[in-house]
Amino acid sequence: MQPQLIDLHPEPADMARLVHQGMAAQPKQLPAWLLYDAEGSRLFDAICEQPEYGLTRTETALLEAKAPEMAAALGPGVLVEFGAGSARKVGPLLAALQPPAYVPLDISGEHLAAACQTLQAQFPKVPVLGICCDYSALDHLPAHPLLEGQRLLGFYPGSSLGNFTPHEAQALLRQFGQLLGPGARLLIGIDQPKAVDRLEAAYNDAAGLSAAFAKNLLVRLNRDLDGSFDPSTFRYQAHWQREHCRIAMALVSEQAQSVHLGGRRWSFNAGEALITEYSVKYDPQAFAGLAAAAGWRCAQRWSDAHNDLSLHLLVRADSEANTP
Ligand code: AVI
Repeated sequence: MQPQLIDLHPEPADMARLVHQGMAAQPKQLPAWLLYDAEGSRLFDAICEQPEYGLTRTETALLEAKAPEMAAALGPGVLVEFGAGSARKVGPLLAALQPPAYVPLDISGEHLAAACQTLQAQFPKVPVLGICCDYSALDHLPAHPLLEGQRLLGFYPGSSLGNFTPHEAQALLRQFGQLLGPGARLLIGIDQPKAVDRLEAAYNDAAGLSAAFAKNLLVRLNRDLDGSFDPSTFRYQAHWQREHCRIAMALVSEQAQSVHLGGRRWSFNAGEALITEYSVKYDPQAFAGLAAAAGWRCAQRWSDAHNDLSLHLLVRADSEANTP
C-alpha cells in the first residue's frame, strides 16, 4: 500500500500577509510554523536528540511504556496527528490501536511525505493519509473515503500547544474539538514547569542547534519572501519568563538596521528582538483549566517518574455519555 498525500500548504500570499502582520506587531513576532521549512524540520529533529532537550526522550519513553493503556482509553477511530513532523512518536500507539486510518498533519511537505512512507512500510495494514497544512488554521478535514463515517481521535504530542499563547491555545483546543467532532478524544503531551537552569539549557543547547533553528527562519524568509536579512547581525536568545511561565526565544538585532521583506522595508533598533517562539509550560492543574475553558475534560493522565511531562487524555465535554 502507498500512503496518500493532500497538499493544503498556505499560498505565498497568505504567508506574506502573516509575516507583515507579525513584523508590524510590538514586539515583532512571527508565527512559529514558519520555522519548519525542510531545513528547519531537520534542525528541529536534531534539537530533539540533544542531551539538554529531554522532552522528546521523556515523552517517547512514556508512550512506549503506556501505549496499550492509552489506546484502550482512546477507543476505536481514525487517528489524526497534529504537527506530526517526522512522526517518530506515534509507532507504539499505532501498534496498540490498529486504527482504520492514520492521518498526520504537518506544515513541512517533504518531511511529511518521508514520514508517511516510513510509517506505511512499518504499518502496512493501516492506510496513511498525510495532509500538508497549517493545522492551526484548519477547522475541518477534507472529505476523503478513509474518513467517511469514522470517529476521529486526536494525537498532539511534543507540547507544541506551548508554542501558542494561552489565549491562542484555548482557541486551538476548541478548534480541534470541532474538527474531530462528537465523541472525539484527544491525547496531548504537555511539558511542565521545572528548574529554570534546565529549561533555559533545553532551549540554548551547547551544540548551537537551537540558535541555528531560529536563524534558519531568516534564511527561509530571504528565500520565500525575497528578504534581505543578514543572519550574522542577529543574536539568538532564550530565557525563562516566570510571570508568563514560558521560555521566550528571540533573534536580537546587534545593530540598528533595516531589511526588505515581501516588498516592504522594516527597521530594527539596536537590541530590538524578533520573537521567533514562545514555549509555555503548564502544570497539570493549569492545563486542566485551559482544556475545560475550551470544552474538554481531562479524563486521564500519564506522567514520567520526575513529573517533567504529562500525556493527558481529553474527552469532549459535550460527549460525557461516552466517558470512561
Ligand atoms: C515544537 N515545540 C514543542 C518545541 C518546544 O519545545 O517548544 C519547539 C522548539 N524550539 C526550540 N526548541 C524546541
